[in-house]
Amino acid sequence: SPHDRQFVDLPKLHSVMNLLQFEHVAERALTDKAWNYISGATDDGITDQTNREYYRHIMFRPRVLKGVGRVDISTSFLGHKLACPILNAPTSSVRLTHPSGEMAIAKASQTCGVPPIIPSMSSFSVSEVVDALKPGHPFFFQLYVHRDRAETEQILDEVCRLAARAIIVTVDLPVISKRETVQRRRYEVDSDSVSRDQDIADSRQRQSAPPPVNTVIDPDLNWNDIEWIMKRTGLPVLVKGIQRAEDAKRALEIGCAGIYISNHGGRALDTAPPAILVLLEIQRTCPEVLRRMEVVIDGGLRRGSDVLKAICLGASVVCIGRPFLYALAYGEEGMVRAWQILKEELAIAMQLLGITSLDQAHPGFVNTQTLDA
Ligand code: FNR
Repeated sequence: SPHDRQFVDLPKLHSVMNLLQFEHVAERALTDKAWNYISGATDDGITDQTNREYYRHIMFRPRVLKGVGRVDISTSFLGHKLACPILNAPTSSVRLTHPSGEMAIAKASQTCGVPPIIPSMSSFSVSEVVDALKPGHPFFFQLYVHRDRAETEQILDEVCRLAARAIIVTVDLPVISKRETVQRRRYEVDSDSVSRDQDIADSRQRQSAPPPVNTVIDPDLNWNDIEWIMKRTGLPVLVKGIQRAEDAKRALEIGCAGIYISNHGGRALDTAPPAILVLLEIQRTCPEVLRRMEVVIDGGLRRGSDVLKAICLGASVVCIGRPFLYALAYGEEGMVRAWQILKEELAIAMQLLGITSLDQAHPGFVNTQTLDA
């Protein structure tokens, strides 16, 4: 079974102290197929690596003697009260790490006091995932726009019926990028792979397994389609995959509720800029975007202090991709633990920085000069 190696030799969950440790555990515990797929990135993985590295080069500028005994990490986002500014990044093929897949992610989100982002490429149907939530618990939906618009209309109508609170349209992957670790393995071992991006381990068990992503995503997608989605659903729409200031402004102009700064965790165009640099560019050249829209960012965040840096630079919330999938080697419980670790790290970082609520965060709390060199 694809899950043979799971649950063998996993260190006790409470002994895992940080997100990097979840990664080390997953490297040993997951099947090669799952590890290669999840940890993989495009070409040489430069963007994936720099996503993380750039957070290390941003230094805090702490204030002292601010009376930080009580700290509040809650926030509001698209009119929803969130227990913390941390969401799951939408990811396909979640069942590669654990059979409970998207169900576990949704339930862990609920436990942690935030809405889940349910992906297009889910191995459970959206209604199955929504049924796992308490009635009325909000959720967001990530959309890949289908070549066949009738398909997309059907999906949109369904998620509207299920009361999605926002649509996140992923636009940074008009074509499938080159992921050699996945492709190489395919030549060596896989004769039954589903597609280049959509490799659900036990898809054969499920009739509802989604079709291959590269036959699904419309490479001709453009800004008119985003306006069409806004009209069709009447829901707040966020564009996922913004990688420069002009596009952030364009999203604002056409009435998007938000932007989602992302390079797909380095899985789209390699050597595209690290996500935090894109946020910095927006903050410096068109700060009105940050005031007038919700701003989501992902890619390379591994510590509560990384979360805080992104929020200081103007992000509303952050998303976590791979680390949550690694934590899912322990099932839902592992994900909840990973979330709690981040929440605790965030709270402590805020106190040490000299703030007690997230609305006190601003660019003056970070030194980004090292990034200009
Ligand atoms: C992704 N990502 C992604 N994004 C999206 O919009 N739709 C999707 O179906 C997927 N699928 C997917 C699968 C896997 C295994 C990974 C690792 C990533 C991208 C994801 O939402 C996010 O942008 C990155 O994962 C963020 O980077 P980190 O946190 O993994 O560094």
